[in-house]
Amino acid sequence: MKDVMIVTGAGQIGMAIARRMGYNKKIVIGDCKKAHAEKISRVMQEAGFDTVALEMDLSSRNSIQGMITKAQTYGNIAMLINAAGVSPSQAPIDTILHVDLYGTAVLLEEIGKVIKPGGVGVTISSQSGYRMPALTAEEDELLACTPTEQLLTLDILQPQNIRDTLHAYQMAKRCNVKRVMAEAVKWGEKGARINSISPGIVVTPLAMDEFRGPRGDFYKNMFQNCPARRPGTADEVANVAELLLSEKGSWITGSDFLIDGGATASYFYGPLKPAT
Ligand SMILES: NC(=O)c1ccc[n+]([C@@H]2O[C@H](COP(=O)([O-])OP(=O)(O)OC[C@H]3O[C@@H](n4cnc5c(N)ncnc54)[C@H](O)[C@@H]3O)[C@@H](O)[C@H]2O)c1
Repeated sequence: MKDVMIVTGAGQIGMAIARRMGYNKKIVIGDCKKAHAEKISRVMQEAGFDTVALEMDLSSRNSIQGMITKAQTYGNIAMLINAAGVSPSQAPIDTILHVDLYGTAVLLEEIGKVIKPGGVGVTISSQSGYRMPALTAEEDELLACTPTEQLLTLDILQPQNIRDTLHAYQMAKRCNVKRVMAEAVKWGEKGARINSISPGIVVTPLAMDEFRGPRGDFYKNMFQNCPARRPGTADEVANVAELLLSEKGSWITGSDFLIDGGATASYFYGPLKPAT
């Protein structure tokens, strides 16, 4: 039996990373839109990869467990790529918190229970998590360590404390990074590693929805005023993922990697700094 790679989120970022690391593995591709999973599965099969497409919902523990059970029929789970998610322009606050925040936390927990010794994972967070004022040490710890089923009852995530969908997304992505730190400790007990990547704007269908959404001008301005002067590509995110998922990254776990063409640097200390 082959080692299994699980890919959640059959989008451009998930596929770019899967193509980099998926050779010699059974690749189980899950997405809430089965057509997305089938499309990516077909493209990858035509490029010689051994894939299977599944319908799965990241916001449901049952659905995640179902995907894991199915994946285990092919072999041991050796690699996780979590690139499923919804953006602030695609979904209401509640959906963003259920998918991006709670769902990611459950996935890391459930895969952590079954990952093979020496296994490795990466989850896609976002530069958005860097664009909030710092939370308190206590709030960070709550996001990191609250049992998954209680996460959405945290006071800081209640409707009166979440301003809009962007704020929900920022909290979700901050939480992803904190969960990765806490999970890295547990994954480490199995000799496994887990990290996150926080991309800036990468051209994908999700980003296209953002460009067409209410913050379209904000993004155009970001590209003009960030050091790289352009959005990124999924393949550049895969460059970082390849390091994290390969032997060369074997001393890296519990970490987050910001890759954004310098947009966050400019946001704090350059022309993208918001006027006060
Ligand atoms: N594209 C960007 O600019 C950008 C920047 C920073 C972070 N990200 C993050 O990268 C990840 C991947 O995004 P992408 O840009 O490749 O988008 P994409 O739209 O190409 O892919 C995302 C996929 O996730 C799937 N999905 C949505 N909700 C789901 C659910 N509940 N269960 C299972 N699958 C679900 C969608 O159907 C879609 O196929 C997301 O977490 C996103 O927040 C993207």
